[in-house]
Amino acid sequence: MDKILVIGSSGQIGTELVMELRSLYGAGNVVACDLKASAQEVMESGAFESLDVLDKQKLYEVIKKHNITHVYLLAALLSATAEKNPMFAWKLNMESLFNILELAREGHIKKIYWPSSIAVFGPTTPRLNTPQYTIVEPSTIYGISKQAGERWCEWYFKKYGVDTRSLRYPGLIGWKSAPGGGTTDYAVHIFHEALKTNSYECFLSENTVLPMMYMPDAIRATIEIMDAPSEKIKIRGAYNLAGTSFSPKEIAIEIGKKLPGFQISYNPDFRQQIADSWPASIDDAQAKEDWGWKPQFDLLGITSDMLQHLKQKF
Ligand code: NAD
Ligand code: SER
Repeated sequence: MDKILVIGSSGQIGTELVMELRSLYGAGNVVACDLKASAQEVMESGAFESLDVLDKQKLYEVIKKHNITHVYLLAALLSATAEKNPMFAWKLNMESLFNILELAREGHIKKIYWPSSIAVFGPTTPRLNTPQYTIVEPSTIYGISKQAGERWCEWYFKKYGVDTRSLRYPGLIGWKSAPGGGTTDYAVHIFHEALKTNSYECFLSENTVLPMMYMPDAIRATIEIMDAPSEKIKIRGAYNLAGTSFSPKEIAIEIGKKLPGFQISYNPDFRQQIADSWPASIDDAQAKEDWGWKPQFDLLGITSDMLQHLKQKF
């Protein structure tokens, strides 16, 4: 029986991924871990370990204690936070990956999921329908760490046969958990503020189009790539992954259709420069072809579902 460890279970993705994995594979087969306590439903539905992923000895002990076979490594500093603390971002984003890759090379883990990001692309990348293989010159520390991580994953696969799988997530939007310091976080904050005050001041400018994805699509993609037969995973760096693309102005118009009178204003800060260096849309044909990826949510679907769930939550 496979046993799963999710590192970073208190974050935006981890909160939802742990619950989905537990419902699919049984609560007893999915261990959550993080520096800080996870959401109540995660803490109450199965095992939780308090762990600093940079502590390789403790990580090894947790893996042995629970007979872990599969690791989802989600601990990282995201784009905006990483720009403010570049040295620590590099340390956390890279050393966490090295610890997991080395434990797999030593035979303690069978399969690794480690997410990359649209942040691997940079200002010299073609912005529209960005291909899988293109110019990759990231201009943020976060993007540089993701680019390097992709190369290391592929290298461990080719050199040692370590089974690594990765997706270049777009900006992720969900109602269950708060985003953790990225440039795309506005697309979550906007729903909360719309319901609280019927207004929102956006830190990106109105026509900044970015690739985005609803969390249920992202969780499904993550589990699908991990469950795909090894021979179908042709890319061991990271796959492009697309959901939908929109600007702050476009999401505000959709929200306004559901919440009449909703007002948005714009006050771009340092995150505008990061957003300007990223693609507007992504070509994910390779993921579709290799392991059957298919997104379900567009902007309309995301807006309806977010507002419906957040209204109930509030
Ligand atoms: P997040 O910031 O919400 O969560 C990260 C979690 O890791 C936090 O709960 C944090 O406490 C934990 N953590 C940090 N340092 C740790 C350590 N030393 N040991 C153990 N746990 C530690 O991030 P997220 O949005 O859930 O992102 C998860 C992964 O997905 C990251 O690699 C991120 O780069 C990637 N990603 C996210 C998005 C997005 O839009 N959320 C997009 C692209 C890629
Ligand atoms: N959503 C992430 C960020 O903005 C993209 O990796 O940092």
